[in-house]
Amino acid sequence: MAVPPHFGDYQNEIYLRGLGGVVPSLPMAFAELEGKAEAALPPSVWSYVAGGAGDERTQQANCTAFERWGLIPRMFVGAAQRDLSVELFGMTLPSPLFMAPIGVIGLCAQDGHGDLATAHAAAVTGVPMVASTLTVDPMEDVAAALGDTPGFFQLYTPTDRDLAASLVHRAEAAGFKGIVVTLDTWVTGWRPRDLSTSNFPQLRGHCLANYTSDPVFRAGLQRPPEEDPQGAVLRWVQVFGSPLTWDDLPWLRSLTDLPLLVKGICHPDDARRARDGGVDGIYCSNHGGRQANGGLPAIDCLPGVVEAADGLPVLFDSGIRSGADVIKALALGATAVGVGRPYAYGLALGGVDGVVHVLRALLAEADLIMAVDGYRTLKDLTPDTLRRVD
Ligand SMILES: Cc1cc2nc3c(=O)[nH]c(=O)nc-3n(C[C@H](O)[C@H](O)[C@H](O)COP(=O)(O)O)c2cc1C
Repeated sequence: MAVPPHFGDYQNEIYLRGLGGVVPSLPMAFAELEGKAEAALPPSVWSYVAGGAGDERTQQANCTAFERWGLIPRMFVGAAQRDLSVELFGMTLPSPLFMAPIGVIGLCAQDGHGDLATAHAAAVTGVPMVASTLTVDPMEDVAAALGDTPGFFQLYTPTDRDLAASLVHRAEAAGFKGIVVTLDTWVTGWRPRDLSTSNFPQLRGHCLANYTSDPVFRAGLQRPPEEDPQGAVLRWVQVFGSPLTWDDLPWLRSLTDLPLLVKGICHPDDARRARDGGVDGIYCSNHGGRQANGGLPAIDCLPGVVEAADGLPVLFDSGIRSGADVIKALALGATAVGVGRPYAYGLALGGVDGVVHVLRALLAEADLIMAVDGYRTLKDLTPDTLRRVD
């Protein structure tokens, strides 16, 4: 299944199949996607994926904040041809969409290999995948499934610097095109849904393949993880999260010549300092409201971060649920826009096809909004094209 050059053509496929009596088996609207995913996933996986920090107000606000912006339609533009492609780190990507890193995405697939399914979906759609450190299948297998679509490796920086270096160098060797260092998750945020069922997948030994396959990690174990899985989990707890400071940035930068991005940046001063520290891209995100409640919607942080990034690419996620949200994030200055939970739900419902469907639906809606509202290219989507809605 090759994605057509005009993402909006997905609707023609759907309507034409309808003439033969075939209606989509996968949901077209996010609310239905979410509801069906809840029914399809084991309760522990569902609560881990759907849940967030505290009473989840920041998580909800990430989504509702998009409602406060509206795109102004322009007529007599004749936007019959749209170009949604973006240049990123010397690559031309067919669209500005990418899949945000989701640890435990492996568990969202019915066969338990969701990292590979996500990579396959990336290969089919050309939508890049940011592969989490926390995977069911090792990063080398994930990279091999990406085909020609670029992938990025997301690093949870371990306390053991040699292990960090080993993970980064494996990602380079596997062919990932950039390293995304997540800064907001060296400690897990307060998550009542998971706490109430004492559910933390990694402590149960899930999604640790990048560690148990790593020579440095293995060297720190008394017995191999195949013989002593509990020992591997205990070691993982010891090394998982390093509370990085600015003093660590030169070291992180020295680990790789690949593009280096820092994820979790919401303050303009942090964006400026990261830029001065030599990163190649800023990733504005509040982790989908999973880490700290009581924060601002991520989209409200984006304009300030974009301004401070001063021309560096700014990736954005947190709260993207529709093509309209994608358009608004682009208009507010994002270079590329990450989809998170929706693709996990697509995966739960339909495996590779489910992820492909979610991505194509988001892109189709974004493309058709540009067609209807008269915006031919992403450059035409500037902050001036939006109005604040009271
Ligand atoms: C279940 C789950 C696991 C996640 N795991 C990671 C991860 O391993 N690394 C990371 O940087 N971000 C992780 N994130 C955060 C996402 O990359 C992204 O920031 C977030 O999903 C955006 O919010 P949204 O899905 O509500 O749009 C995870 C998110 C979810 C929902």
